[in-house]
Amino acid sequence: MSPLPSATKKNRQRRRPIYVAGAATFAAFLLGLLSGCRPHEQTPTISEPPSVMQKLAMGHDQQSSVAASQARGKKVYDHYCKICHGAGGQGDGFNSAMLDPPPRNFADEAFWKRVNDEQLQTVISQGGESVGKSVLMPAWGRTLEASQITDVIAFLRTVPALAKKAAAAEESEN
Ligand code: HEC
Repeated sequence: MSPLPSATKKNRQRRRPIYVAGAATFAAFLLGLLSGCRPHEQTPTISEPPSVMQKLAMGHDQQSSVAASQARGKKVYDHYCKICHGAGGQGDGFNSAMLDPPPRNFADEAFWKRVNDEQLQTVISQGGESVGKSVLMPAWGRTLEASQITDVIAFLRTVPALAKKAAAAEESEN
C-alpha cells in the first residue's frame, strides 16, 4: 500500500474550504458590481437641479429667442414703419417732413419710460386715433399678426441702444 493516495485526498479535503471562500468572495464582488454600480450609473439626471452648464444653456436659449424676435421685428419695421419712423427709428423717415405731429422718435428714452408693451400693442394694431394721437399713425391690426406686432415692439426696444452705437461710430469718424 502506498501512502500517496490517502495523503493527496487529505490535502484536497483541506483545500476545499479555501476554494469555497474564494468563490463566495468572487460572487460577492460580482453582486457588488451588479447591484451597486449599475443602478448608480443609470440614476436619471431629471430630478437633479440643473448644472451650471445647463443653466448657461437655458439663458442662451432665452437670449437667442429674444434676438430672433428682434430680427423678425426689424424686417416688419423695414417693410411697414421705416418710411415714416426712419431707417434708424428716429422719427426721420422719408414721409416725416409731411407729418405734423412728426412720427415718434424711438431713440427717445423718455418715451420708453412712458409706455408699456400693452399700450404699444394697442396703438400699433388700432392706430394713433384710438389712443387720442395722430390719425397719420395707421392701424396695423389687419395687416400684421399679433406675433408680428410683438416682434416689432421687441425691435423698437433696441432702437435707443442702436442710436447710441450709431452716434458713437459717427463721433469716432469725425
Ligand atoms: C404714414 C406714416 C407712419 C407709418 C407708416 C407708421 N407710423 Fe407710427 N406714427 C406715425 C406718426 C405721425 C406718429 C405720431 C403720432 C402722434 O404723436 O400723435 C406715430 C407714432 C407711433 C408710435 C407712438 C405712439 C405713442 O404712444 O406715442 C408707435 C409705437 C408707432 N408709431 C409704431 C409704428 C409701427 C410699429 C409702425 C409699422 C408697423 C408704424 N408706426 C408705422 C406715423 C406712421
